[in-house]
Amino acid sequence: MSFELIPEKLVYGGAALGHAEGRTVLVPFALPGERLEVESVRTAKGVIHARPIRILEAASRRIAPPCAYFARCGGCHYQHLSAEHQTSTKVEILRETLRRLGKIEWESDITVHAAESRGYRNQAQLKVAGMPDGQVELGFFEAESHRLFPVDECLILSPRLNGVLGELRSAEWTGRLGDIHEIDLLADDRDERVVVTLRGRGNSKKNEALAGDLLRRIQAVVSVGVEGDEGARVFGGAALEYAVPPFRYRVSPGSFFQSSRFLLPELVEAVTGDISGGLALDIFAGVGLFTLPLAKRFERVLAVEAHPGSARDLAANAKAHDCDNVRVAHETAYDFLRRFAQSDFDGVILDPPRAGAGVAALKLLINCRPRRIHYVSCSPPTLARDLAYLTSRGYRLISVEMFDFFPQTFHIECLAKLTRTDNPSS
Ligand SMILES: C[S@@+](CC[C@H](N)C(=O)[O-])C[C@H]1O[C@@H](n2cnc3c(N)ncnc32)[C@H](O)[C@@H]1O
Repeated sequence: MSFELIPEKLVYGGAALGHAEGRTVLVPFALPGERLEVESVRTAKGVIHARPIRILEAASRRIAPPCAYFARCGGCHYQHLSAEHQTSTKVEILRETLRRLGKIEWESDITVHAAESRGYRNQAQLKVAGMPDGQVELGFFEAESHRLFPVDECLILSPRLNGVLGELRSAEWTGRLGDIHEIDLLADDRDERVVVTLRGRGNSKKNEALAGDLLRRIQAVVSVGVEGDEGARVFGGAALEYAVPPFRYRVSPGSFFQSSRFLLPELVEAVTGDISGGLALDIFAGVGLFTLPLAKRFERVLAVEAHPGSARDLAANAKAHDCDNVRVAHETAYDFLRRFAQSDFDGVILDPPRAGAGVAALKLLINCRPRRIHYVSCSPPTLARDLAYLTSRGYRLISVEMFDFFPQTFHIECLAKLTRTDNPSS
């Protein structure tokens, strides 16, 4: 059944929120203040999730989306807003999320770091599926579903990755991708070389032939990882080198690396540039994006990373840059902190996945009495939860920055800096 809605605001997750007959309604691809006809899709926890049917009166801020797939492909949520309105919206959402979920009234500025809003992704996770007509197609999931939405090109992918996507979509390759359900692409900082990871079934002989042909026939491809029932194998070069000057990072297939290419030097500088001292801790370290710069600013750095491939790359990257003062702990943050309860850290970087660092690990961390904590987050709700804990246990929030790593989408990357309230230099 359809009904009219005038959304009040955009909320984290991409939807606009409004009310109808006393019920909260979430609707994607809509804007505050506009009048829409919407239709209920499902109700969960008392909230109606709706889809827009017609715009009856458009908001003045609405623009024509630059990509023809917008609102059908599930990748982007904000193409109906200009880049400037997207960033100001994200800042408002971040501020409100901190207030609502963390009871943190952050009245000061939130510094915004923004770059080009198109062609910024250095990574893609393509879905592969057989369509009803028997063809194998590549694309992303449709909005709000797990159905494949085939795409020829993507507005937010780097030019090189769009090139590789275009090649893979040709019949020459799709005819051989029937056993694959997912393809990861990672391009280097110059957008020249590409690592491909194929995920699916298929026997090792067939996969080996496919990997070999991809390496031979698609010029940019330098390495192909195959992950399937028979384990994981890598063909071609073992890893990609990604430069964030002055460092070059080895990134093997499966290791974590940031997926937005324009703001990395700014992020590294903001995270590491204003701390120094004796002992630093980089938790959720990946392949060492922050570890290596920290090694130049601190006498010793402990870097914690749970993923085996990332931890191996991290150790190799420290070695390649003669960072003898780095020690890599290949374990979870929680296990590491359980053992290191007594250390006194001058600076701690936290850069967890979406789930956040979590109160259990933070409880152990504050026993180590770090003077400064720099928390990099890709999820405002879990950041709010974790900041609520830290600010109730002797830490003060001193700055919040927003890195618009993912224009056109609802994703928000941010950096919150905290200092211990009894820190003499705070
Ligand atoms: C958002 S990434 C950040 C990586 C790195 N700081 C960077 O910017 O490239 C999070 C990292 O934490 C790792 N990780 C996930 N859960 C973990 C845990 N419980 N303990 C330690 N590391 C974990 C992941 O493998 C990933 O490398």
